[in-house]
Amino acid sequence: MSNLKISDRFVKSFLTETLVQKGLENAEKARQTLLQKTGQGKEFLGWVDLPSQTSSEDLQRIRKAAETIQSHSQYLVVVGIGGSYLGARAVIEALTPEFSAQELHKKSVKIIYAGHHLDADYHSRLLAFLENKEFSVNVISKSGTTTEPAIAFRLLLSLLERKYGRENVKNRVFATTDKQKGALKQLADEYGFPTFIIPDDVGGRYSVLTPVGLLPIAAAGFSINKLIDGAKQMEAELKSKTAFEGNIATTYATIRNSLYASGKKIEILVSYTPALSFVSEWWKQLFGESEGKTTKGIFPASVQFTTDLHSMGQYIQDGERILMETTIKVESPKQDVYLTEKSDDRDGLNYLAGKKLSEVNQSAMLGTLIAHQDGGVPSIEITVPVINEEIIGELLYFFEFACGVSGYMLGVNPFDQPGVEDYKNNMFALLGKKGYEKRKEEILGHI
Ligand code: PA5
Repeated sequence: MSNLKISDRFVKSFLTETLVQKGLENAEKARQTLLQKTGQGKEFLGWVDLPSQTSSEDLQRIRKAAETIQSHSQYLVVVGIGGSYLGARAVIEALTPEFSAQELHKKSVKIIYAGHHLDADYHSRLLAFLENKEFSVNVISKSGTTTEPAIAFRLLLSLLERKYGRENVKNRVFATTDKQKGALKQLADEYGFPTFIIPDDVGGRYSVLTPVGLLPIAAAGFSINKLIDGAKQMEAELKSKTAFEGNIATTYATIRNSLYASGKKIEILVSYTPALSFVSEWWKQLFGESEGKTTKGIFPASVQFTTDLHSMGQYIQDGERILMETTIKVESPKQDVYLTEKSDDRDGLNYLAGKKLSEVNQSAMLGTLIAHQDGGVPSIEITVPVINEEIIGELLYFFEFACGVSGYMLGVNPFDQPGVEDYKNNMFALLGKKGYEKRKEEILGHI
């Protein structure tokens, strides 16, 4: 049994029994299509069996590389974009305490991200910062040709060569890429970088449980064995339970698709802990890139409450009624804070004396769920007991599986991303890349 629970108590009044029943039938068909690998994009379904097929030797090799990094580096720069960085960042930020990270994870290195945008100031500051630091680089790119990480890696490699000498760079660079194709693979072979393979049948946004996510997560000091164990548990459950037996992924896919059909075009992922903010970023890519096709798809957005109740709360409560929410509810904090009585009660908070801060947060959550339901915003609740490696592993696999099912229910290929090429082709044309001369003329004619 997995540790995740899903509840539709704040959705029921928005949907009819018949709609949900029909949705469950479609969801079960989609689940079968996914499991039997007969649908669109079937060549990219390696992630479905990934947790159960990850061997202890695979994990050991990743842990050993992480230990090497930890033995000589203060910093690991993770170079990647989209699916090649968001998963690792989601897990690392969810598990890293905001304060005293170094004390709690003595063996870990601090993770820095690069190559996920093209901002000159960020990269020049990063290079200056690393000048007198001990650091390694994990460059991650399945295609091995993506412009943003390729530029960042070129800059970092030059710095590494200058600091450590070309012959020593191979102890500091770890490449995660395709087994044979791409410029990064060629570079890795030439320099002799240790290489980790991204399987052919796993696309970027479904790759967090491959070395793409696992190496940075291990280097940050977290247990990749526990993460995979959690995912494995979820894999077993979602593969064995049908939509009519309470499969939580098909339930989630059914509810969100039914709400979409009834006009709720935007889904907001809500969390009440800042630790999950990058899980939301990862989730947005997963669902946005998987479903936003052929002019269809729920637009994935995210907020963090109660922070954003003071900025986005007004719109959500009273604005256009096109919103649905999915709230991730964490049952217990790792460590609670107790509120005590004060003799003067100048701040008027003595009524909270004896309560835990988590109780206040839970009341804010329940109050919001009720208010949003009353205001016309249905909320799906996903409850996890606590945030740790196993639970995050369960959560990631749950969302991946639900996304595959949901995309098939919508009638799109959830495993391609043809739309992301357009900006790249225009950028190449504008930058004068060979072969793009005609496009340059065409696009400049548009402005
Ligand atoms: O999910 C995806 O496919 C994308 O987000 C890619 O991961 C992203 O574009 C980076 O691609 P690559 O790993 O080839 O550099």
